[in-house]
Amino acid sequence: MAMSPRHLPRRPRRASFLPAVFLLLGAPLWAQSLRALATVRGVAVGTAVNYFHFVHDPAYTALLAREYNQVEPENAMKWAALHPAPQTYDFAQADAIVAFALNHQQRVRGHNLLWHSHNPAWLTDGHFTPTQLAQILQDHITTVVSHFAGRVYAWDVVNEAFQEGPSGKLRPSIWNDEPGIGRPGTGFIEQALRWAHAVDPHALLFYNDFGIEAINPKSDAVYAMVRDFKRRGVPLDGLGLQMHVDTDGHPNLSSLARNIARFTALGVQVQITEMDVRLRVSRAGVASARDLNTQARIYHDISAVCLKDPGCTALQTWGFTDASSWIPRFYPGYGAALPFDADLRPKPAYGALANALGGPPARGLKLAMVAGPPSDSPRQRHRRQP
Ligand code: XIL
Repeated sequence: MAMSPRHLPRRPRRASFLPAVFLLLGAPLWAQSLRALATVRGVAVGTAVNYFHFVHDPAYTALLAREYNQVEPENAMKWAALHPAPQTYDFAQADAIVAFALNHQQRVRGHNLLWHSHNPAWLTDGHFTPTQLAQILQDHITTVVSHFAGRVYAWDVVNEAFQEGPSGKLRPSIWNDEPGIGRPGTGFIEQALRWAHAVDPHALLFYNDFGIEAINPKSDAVYAMVRDFKRRGVPLDGLGLQMHVDTDGHPNLSSLARNIARFTALGVQVQITEMDVRLRVSRAGVASARDLNTQARIYHDISAVCLKDPGCTALQTWGFTDASSWIPRFYPGYGAALPFDADLRPKPAYGALANALGGPPARGLKLAMVAGPPSDSPRQRHRRQP
C-alpha cells in the first residue's frame, strides 16, 4: 500500500508531547500498521516469533502478518532445536515459521549458527577435540545455511561472543577456547563467517551481541574486530545490536548514534535485532501508566536514532506481545516489555514505534536489500553489499 511520505503523520517535536500525540493519532497509526510505515521508508520492521504462540494463537499470527515485514524464529533455529542429536536435524518448527513468512512477503533473519548457549547436551558434554569440533561446526553451518538458502536473507552467524562488561575480551566457550575449534582469537568467528558465506554467498552475515549499543569498551572491542574483518575481506555484512534495555539502563542516544555511524562507516549495516524495554511489574504483570509512557519514549527515541542513519536497516523487537516474552522468566519482577499487551492491544510503545517510523526519512537511501517492495525477487532482496 503505497503512501507518499508527506501523508504520514508527523513525529512529535518533543518527547513530552508523546502521550497527547498517541491520543490524537492512535487510531490512524493503528489503521496504518508498522509494516506499512516501514515499507514506505524502505526499512525492515521485525519481531522474534515464538513457536508456541505461532502454532496455537490465530490472533497472534494475524497480528504478526499485519504488523511486520521481517520475522526471526525466537528459538527454533538454535542448535538445541535444530540439531538434537549428532546425526539428526529437525527443521519442522523453523520451516513452518519460514513458510508463513514467505507466504506473507516477510523477510526472515536466521538466529543463530554459533552461540555459547542453547547448545544440545550431546555437543557440550561430548568431550570433542578442537579438530572434531571444527568439523561439527562446519557440518552444522553447511547443513543449516544450505537448507534455508534463498529463504533466510540474513544470519546472525555468531551471537554474543564477547564477554559482558568492560574487559573487551572474548567469552570463554566451546567454540572459542573450551577447547575451541583451533582458531586463535577471533579466528573462530571469522571461520564461521567464511563457512556460511561459502554455502550461501547471497545471505547477509551478521555478528550479534548485547551491551554494544553505545560506545563503550565492549563495543570498542567489537569495532576492532569488524575493522580487521573488513580490511581483510572476511565476509561480514552487518552488526546486530540486541537492545534489551530498561527505563534506567538504556543507551545514551548520542553515543548510540555515533556508534551506529562508526560501524556503518566500516561498510557494515546495522540492525536493531532484539529490542525490548522491560518495566517493573506487579505480581499480576501490570506496569504503571507512567512507566508505560516512559517505555514509549524510549522505543521512540532509540528507533528514531536508528532510522536517521541510512546504514541502520532494521528495527526488530524480541517478540511483540507481553503474553510471550522472555523477560518475566529471565528478569524476575520485570515484564510488560513489548509494544502489544498480553491481550494483543497496542500499548503506548506501539504508537511510539509508529511515530518513529512515520517521522522524517533518513538522509540518503537505505540499503537496497531491505528497500525493495515485498514483490521483489528473492535474488534482488538478498543482494549483498558490494
Ligand atoms: C531467549 C529466548 O527469548 C528464550 O525463550 C530462551 O529461553 C532463551 O533465549 N539474546 C539472544 C536471544 O540472542 O536468543 C535470547 O532469546 C535472548 C537474549
